Amino acid sequence: MAHRIVTLPGDGIGPEIIAPTLELLEAVGEFEFEQHLFGGASIDAHGTALTDETLAACRAADAVLLAAVGGPKWDSTDPAAPRPEQGLLGLRKGLGLYANLRPVRPLPPLYGTSPLREEQIEGVDLLVVRELTGGIYFGAKTRTADSASDLCEYSVAEIERIARRAFSLARTRVSSVDKANVLETSRLWREVVTRVHAQEYPEIELEHVLVDNAAMQLIAGPRHFDVILTENMFGDILSDEAAMLTGSIGMLPSASLGDGGAGAQATPGRGGPGLFEPVHGSAPDIAGLGVANPLAMFLSAGLMLRHGLGLAQEAAAVESAVEGALQAGLRTPDLGGDAGTKEATQVVLDRL
Ligand code: IPM
Ligand code: MG
Repeated sequence: MAHRIVTLPGDGIGPEIIAPTLELLEAVGEFEFEQHLFGGASIDAHGTALTDETLAACRAADAVLLAAVGGPKWDSTDPAAPRPEQGLLGLRKGLGLYANLRPVRPLPPLYGTSPLREEQIEGVDLLVVRELTGGIYFGAKTRTADSASDLCEYSVAEIERIARRAFSLARTRVSSVDKANVLETSRLWREVVTRVHAQEYPEIELEHVLVDNAAMQLIAGPRHFDVILTENMFGDILSDEAAMLTGSIGMLPSASLGDGGAGAQATPGRGGPGLFEPVHGSAPDIAGLGVANPLAMFLSAGLMLRHGLGLAQEAAAVESAVEGALQAGLRTPDLGGDAGTKEATQVVLDRL
């Protein structure tokens, strides 16, 4: 039976990188794609970044593939104006996708492209496990004429489930990142992670790292890390930093998962389909020029095949085609070359 995928191209370079990704997927399996407007494109058409209909379609799908949202057209500091990002946050929350996995594995052909020296990034293979539906992103917000506030809140249950996810994905060590010297939520985080570790995963090494120090260590010695477990906003910031180890933010895929496993039935509030998207944004500065790097989107489709649909072999085929293309010299402008999106797609397709 064909896998049912909802695709959300979103804004900016989104449509340009989704289209070739569908071509790639069609080369490895049978899929039914259902496309919906999302983000700024949905605001323009419907006045909201995520309609009830799109959310319902996502819930009913086997997996959701998303490109990127946002752009200057919808940038506003007016708290009442609709924002494309609200669609993304609403989708993560609406699908219960509390675990965001961002694997950072610089590929040997790109060692020379990273701003760090080759001997620093050689062999780096880390996973950022970011809590995705809590913290300051989702706390109450207030705004008056002369002040504003964002509440950062975490419950024990929210910390337990993301900690379990991180320990179960770790090979050797979990580095739990917080700001326990200042924040109350971080002190609770540290306590809960320590308890989950002692009771359920004593065979994995656990260390606690303050977020400022983690930012430094990611550059000073990235090979040290196996799994980085952290809360929503720290994970947002550290994953962009970690992306540069791979040479370009245009290389980093991500998977957002709830409690549903591969092929799990979509039940609102109880897991359901995963969401797969590149870490990069909509790059409005290069939208429409045909030069966007589609590789993070391809690798996100790879994560969808593996984590969302249980198709490990197909996932490996996509990943090795991407690596093979880079090995053969493929470089989009963000990687210092001049290959456009079409050419990049063809080079990868030829290797599938
Ligand atoms: C990300 C993005 C989003 C986030 C934005 C677009 C809301 O930066 O997925 O990392 O902050 O989570
Ligand atoms: Mg981000």
